[in-house]
Amino acid sequence: MYQIYPRSFADSNGDGIGDLGGVLDHLDHLEHLGVDAVWLSPFYRSPMADFGYDVSDFCDVDPLFGDLADFDRIVTEAHARGLRVIIDWVPNHSSDQHPWFVDARSGRDAAKRDWYVWRDPAPDGGPPNNWIRAWSTEPAWTFDEASGQYYLHCWLPQQPDLNWANPEVVAAMHDTLRFWLDRGVDGVRMDVVHLIGKDPALPDDDPDLAVLSHVPLNHRPETHALLRDLRVLFDSYDGDRVALGEIYLLDTAQVATYYGTADELHLNFNFPPMFAKWDAADWRAQIETTYAQLDPIEAWPTWVLSNHDNWRHRTRYGGVEARARAAAVLLLTLRGTPFLFAGEELALEDAYVEPDRAVDPGGRDGCRAPIPWDSSPEHGWATVDPWLPWPPDPETRNVATQLADPRSTFHLYRRLLAERRASRALQTGALHLFDVPEGVIGYHREIGSHGTGPEPVTASKRTVLINFTGQSVGLDTALAAGTVIISTHPEHEGKPFQGRLAADEAVVLSAPPNRAGS
Ligand code: GLC
Repeated sequence: MYQIYPRSFADSNGDGIGDLGGVLDHLDHLEHLGVDAVWLSPFYRSPMADFGYDVSDFCDVDPLFGDLADFDRIVTEAHARGLRVIIDWVPNHSSDQHPWFVDARSGRDAAKRDWYVWRDPAPDGGPPNNWIRAWSTEPAWTFDEASGQYYLHCWLPQQPDLNWANPEVVAAMHDTLRFWLDRGVDGVRMDVVHLIGKDPALPDDDPDLAVLSHVPLNHRPETHALLRDLRVLFDSYDGDRVALGEIYLLDTAQVATYYGTADELHLNFNFPPMFAKWDAADWRAQIETTYAQLDPIEAWPTWVLSNHDNWRHRTRYGGVEARARAAAVLLLTLRGTPFLFAGEELALEDAYVEPDRAVDPGGRDGCRAPIPWDSSPEHGWATVDPWLPWPPDPETRNVATQLADPRSTFHLYRRLLAERRASRALQTGALHLFDVPEGVIGYHREIGSHGTGPEPVTASKRTVLINFTGQSVGLDTALAAGTVIISTHPEHEGKPFQGRLAADEAVVLSAPPNRAGS
């Protein structure tokens, strides 16, 4: 799945802000790259306090991005190319400008007062509990002078939390989902959906843990009950419609619970690996933990290196392109669904954003820099000066330049995606880590032959080796034999593996399948 942050992807009307027309203009890029699905970050009507994650109308497109007809065209055109369309759905909060909250705020007796979370002040007049909002040390509560109560917002004061304990809210939010599923979307990425169920007593967070924010601490049975109801809604639709949770919890064991017993979400983001260092031992531990938690419950994993909320992985890994390329091999060969963030196929780094150009309240501008499409001064945008500065080296790290260079990171992603599409072993095969020298990770992906029906599966095996170090490493070829079908060093492709990885090299080998019983 390929994530598009619409503001940053491509601009079709020359205002320096990406839009749905820009997405439409570049669907060919996605088809050529070879992804299966596109996930669009929010394009809803919004005052943009959190750049669209503060929604003032869950069922319309903000004029900045276009209109519903543009959205419908994306769905039609994407489907015509065999691409699925996933949209972001923001269930935990609305904008403070949403008519629901405008009503709720109008007084204690307002019809929609209870659609949000209101509480009287603590005895000392302060907030009702010690919850901290995201990105600050400020309370997750704002006092409303007119009514003398506080309202809850796990994010900005402009993002009041909806009260999912109220069945009217559940019904209204289900309606917003149906609106998009009826329009033909193939699924939904549910923004911080682990937050929707809350302990009705709203107790204090453990003061030792509540140093940052309440967001990674909210892990509640109420949420699971709400997710089971959402799954029933999804299951009432025909076709494959995916429910994907953004579960912002920092423990994979907790994340695993949001699959339920195959009756909650189909897929969940698992962020702990994203925060791992570029280090073989750290990554091996993340891989082992993920499968140890998910395999026993037959839950399908997801893998992600970059998104619109965090430094791009190349930036996190010290700006070293070779590491970013090796990481792409890891991402696209692990067992599970990989998520790509637009621009990582160009090995983009975060932009340096001068303090006077910073706009995001969460400090995330760098990873949201515009995508450079070509080497002209405007890089395919209608202005040299879009809403955020360019990422480093846009003269070379742009789509047109990399398309023309078979050694580029774009082509590495393209080869990996094509290989993944062609290989049952990489799609669904079991993953077995094997012992390799320090600083390296090695695993086999393997599928046995089975079936005699119309689609019998032939046994196949791939071996993946990732060198996390800046030194060349020798390996025992008995464990890692075969032809190099993909390498971050393309000159090694098409040759037998010689038992040595170059610095930061990652390879995929086509290995002879094991004989039964061997
Ligand atoms: C999620 C989004 C992030 C947003 C937040 C509040 O974490 O990915 O961009 O700011 O939720 O909606």
